[in-house]
Amino acid sequence: MAKPPALQAPRGTRDFYPEEMRQRSWLFAQFREVARRMGFEEVDAPVVEHAELFTRKAGEEIVEQLYHFTMHDRHLALRPEMTPSIARMVMARAGALRLPLRWFTVTQNWRYERMTRGRKREHFQWNMDVWGEPGVAAEAELLAAIFALLARVGLGAGQVRVQLNSRALLEDTLRAGVLRARPDAFAPLCVVVDKLDKIGADAVVDQLCDPAGAVQLSPAEARDVVALLGTRSIDDAAAAAPPGSPAIAELRRLFELLDAYGIAQYVDFDASVVRGLAYYTGIVFEAYDAERKLRAVCGGGRYDRLLEALGGPSIPAVGFGFGDVVIAELLADHGLLPALPRGLDDVVCALGEAQRAAAIRVAERLRAEGRAVELVLGESRPKRVLADADKAGARSVWLLGPDEATRGVVKVRDLASGTERDEPNS
Ligand code: HAM
Repeated sequence: MAKPPALQAPRGTRDFYPEEMRQRSWLFAQFREVARRMGFEEVDAPVVEHAELFTRKAGEEIVEQLYHFTMHDRHLALRPEMTPSIARMVMARAGALRLPLRWFTVTQNWRYERMTRGRKREHFQWNMDVWGEPGVAAEAELLAAIFALLARVGLGAGQVRVQLNSRALLEDTLRAGVLRARPDAFAPLCVVVDKLDKIGADAVVDQLCDPAGAVQLSPAEARDVVALLGTRSIDDAAAAAPPGSPAIAELRRLFELLDAYGIAQYVDFDASVVRGLAYYTGIVFEAYDAERKLRAVCGGGRYDRLLEALGGPSIPAVGFGFGDVVIAELLADHGLLPALPRGLDDVVCALGEAQRAAAIRVAERLRAEGRAVELVLGESRPKRVLADADKAGARSVWLLGPDEATRGVVKVRDLASGTERDEPNS
């Protein structure tokens, strides 16, 4: 019989049973370990923010996907991403923070998405952001963090590739060309262009020409833009860019730095990557499985003007968000999701109520040594206790029956070897 809706998790959300929770904790531990090794500090913010923090004017999908509600005259929203909350936190202490700062978060985010493989309505995201560093050394460090994570979880040598572009380059090129008279149309143009993979070139051209849209190019101009997105080498991009474009120099420098990290060979220049969020201003990137079977594993870029747009001082920033869903699918596809044991060391069982106090003392003594100990709470037969403990992956079972009590011992059964010994019960 189908369960009534109220008894099911809402569509696109997940319950985490112990096995799944162990995998989630394992993945988060990898995120945290990479962040720690790179000298990043963890921060957090509320999952509910004022909706206005997220509502922007560039027609981004993320705004339409907001879970929002009004309570006591306040318009609130569940965070769809971390970047605005982090910006809010930086702004609140802008004068007091020592820059550049390196912050990371591991948080749950909410987006009312159309569900496809790899996309849910809640997901966890590992964010790594550097604030206060204008140079591409920050981008290089962040990309190194992505590859460090991939290596930690067993995805090496090109199983995931990064596609990288510069919005500054596209902006310089278009402002010298089709957007000469209309520089404001750049951010909404990026939002449209980001859909190229999803909706195809013709639909992008239609949207760029939409007389009711924010970009309003002529069909010839729109086709020129789409052609520009086909560029796959920095040299070709340089030929289309205004002479001496600083964005080209930045891209070349970034690849030199990536080479020093030993990851340049896994990063491709791809002019079609612009990202769907309007706040990016410089280098932008996304990582995909090499076969491009799944959606982006992670994405990020430079957003030097976000703080000013929120009314704060000008502080350059760059970062990425790395979700838990696509990486888990990719790891599962490659047989790399670890089957994690429960991590139980001992099971302690009193055989009879008279022995319960002694069993409690044994369990507490083992716990004080740092061992993970399950104390059998009700009545159980030794055979059942042993079978359950074995199934749970425990290493030993401590049994206290009347006989052991009289002799002042505990019977310890080692589950791996099947051997038994008596330990003094004191
Ligand atoms: P984003 O591309 O919207 O960027 O999300 C980053 C990553 O989060 C995606 O590549 C994907 O792994 C995961 N993700 C996003 N939406 C979903 C979903 N509905 N279901 C499953 N996974 C999802 C941002 O959010 C930016 N704030 C990242 C950033 C940080 N940029 C600078 N700093």
